[in-house]
Amino acid sequence: MQPMTPVDRWFHARKQEGRTAWYLVHAFLARQLSAPVLETMPPGLPNREAYFNDLFGLLERDRRQIEAGRYVISDKRLPRPYDIFRRSTRFLADLGMINLRRMRGDGSEVYRLQKQTTVPPKRPRYYLQNFHYQTDGWMSGDSAELYDFQVDVLFAGATDAMRRQALLPIGDFLRGRRLGHVDLLDVAAGTGRFLQSIKENYPRLPVTGVDLSSEYLAKARRELRPWSWVRLVLSNAECLPFPEDSKDLVTSVYLLHELPKKARERAIAEMARVLKPGGRLILVDSLQTGDHPPFDALLALFPMLYHEPYYSDYVSTDLIALAKATGLQLLQVDRAFMSKIMVFTKGP
Ligand SMILES: C[S@@+](CC[C@H](N)C(=O)[O-])C[C@H]1O[C@@H](n2cnc3c(N)ncnc32)[C@H](O)[C@@H]1O
Repeated sequence: MQPMTPVDRWFHARKQEGRTAWYLVHAFLARQLSAPVLETMPPGLPNREAYFNDLFGLLERDRRQIEAGRYVISDKRLPRPYDIFRRSTRFLADLGMINLRRMRGDGSEVYRLQKQTTVPPKRPRYYLQNFHYQTDGWMSGDSAELYDFQVDVLFAGATDAMRRQALLPIGDFLRGRRLGHVDLLDVAAGTGRFLQSIKENYPRLPVTGVDLSSEYLAKARRELRPWSWVRLVLSNAECLPFPEDSKDLVTSVYLLHELPKKARERAIAEMARVLKPGGRLILVDSLQTGDHPPFDALLALFPMLYHEPYYSDYVSTDLIALAKATGLQLLQVDRAFMSKIMVFTKGP
């Protein structure tokens, strides 16, 4: 891992400020261009000051960790103006359809369209939905191109900073180990955003990403092209195509809240099955009710504004008990703004 120079750090801090402002502007525009869904907002929402203090607290912590050399961000480029413009216009152009689905409460468009195809892809029914009301759900290249932007609008440009908090337990585990002998699996790798962070920090670490979307994996493949020792596999998290006790590290970011109860249980059991005894399972996902009471009302609001059919069940699920039932023990929990990072190990 190459330490960042003071210039790199300065550059990163300015870039993060720009990101935050950029995505906040888009969140504002999205609100202005959307018809109100609720007549009145539910009580108990955090005030702006509390929300932004928490957001900036995470960004400050992220900056300090970078300065302390806990992890690096190697991307020193600024996005090209053309790309900035293209992503922004794509996001804004899609708002109309998102709005329409939101007003109709329609998250089943993907399923209806897939039913009409001559060779329906083998996907569970729950998967074929317009999660977040996004166009094509997980099932198109356009959706894969838009996804990271949409999530950053939701989290004010802090999504990577939240994901990066999972680099800390990964770093703790890898210290003193030969990277070439460690095997990391990222379950529901999506567009490969977290795997990119991992490879920036540990280029020699062999990593595998699985996801059920061939289009998201295609995007991940493009983004991860600069690195070797990367394997991407189309697979259902409920039935991982790897032997028992075969992975030293298993990570999964923002998957569990997208799954119905039974699928979530099977996915956790599968992650536990493929993890080696003494290995680490690191889960990053939305906060759950009670994790940070000032944000509880926000967690209740989220599925009212976005198509998140399993979120309400997720926020009240006892993940620690679920993991324990599969032979995992909790080592640590950390909160990072709207996310939490849970680290488990598997007993012998
Ligand atoms: C919210 S995205 C998270 C993606 C990525 N981990 C990230 O940090 O942005 C959820 C991802 O889970 C994938 N997914 C949903 N259900 C799945 C399943 N049963 N098996 C594998 N992947 C699944 C979707 O295709 C999508 O890429």
